[in-house]
Amino acid sequence: MNTKRTIVIGADHAGYLLKEKVCAYLTEKGFNVINVGTDSSESCDYPVFAEKVCKTLQSGDADLGILVCGTGVGMSMAANKYKGIRAACCSDTFSARLTRVHNDANVLCFGERVVGEGLALDIVDAYLGAEFEGGKHKRRIAMFENGVE
Ligand code: RB5
Repeated sequence: MNTKRTIVIGADHAGYLLKEKVCAYLTEKGFNVINVGTDSSESCDYPVFAEKVCKTLQSGDADLGILVCGTGVGMSMAANKYKGIRAACCSDTFSARLTRVHNDANVLCFGERVVGEGLALDIVDAYLGAEFEGGKHKRRIAMFENGVE
């Protein structure tokens, strides 16, 4: 796994505790981690943190993003509104790996109310350990980003 990458990570109150665990895990592995908050379990709005992660990626300051909320679904919906962002909500390792390989997903989302810490860290490993395959998958991504002729 290439740990010379910068991962930007954010969460709302419902994903805060798991986000802290993922930050510690990635830092321990040697990744450069940008933590954009939230910084407590006090209620907040998930789109705020989706925007922080997406803007950091758009600026080129990070290579990949991770977003955690209660389900991961709201974060993925919010993140996918930003140009150049391909966010995937994954609750299993197979999807997490394939969304890098086939969809070139640059944001991984999951839910603290859905997955436990052990599975979440395996999902992160599967995602960060995979590489985009390019080829026909590049064409298909261009189709949904630019329109199908
Ligand atoms: C917060 O209660 C919850 O709605 C949020 O974390 C997320 O699950 C939304 O999709």
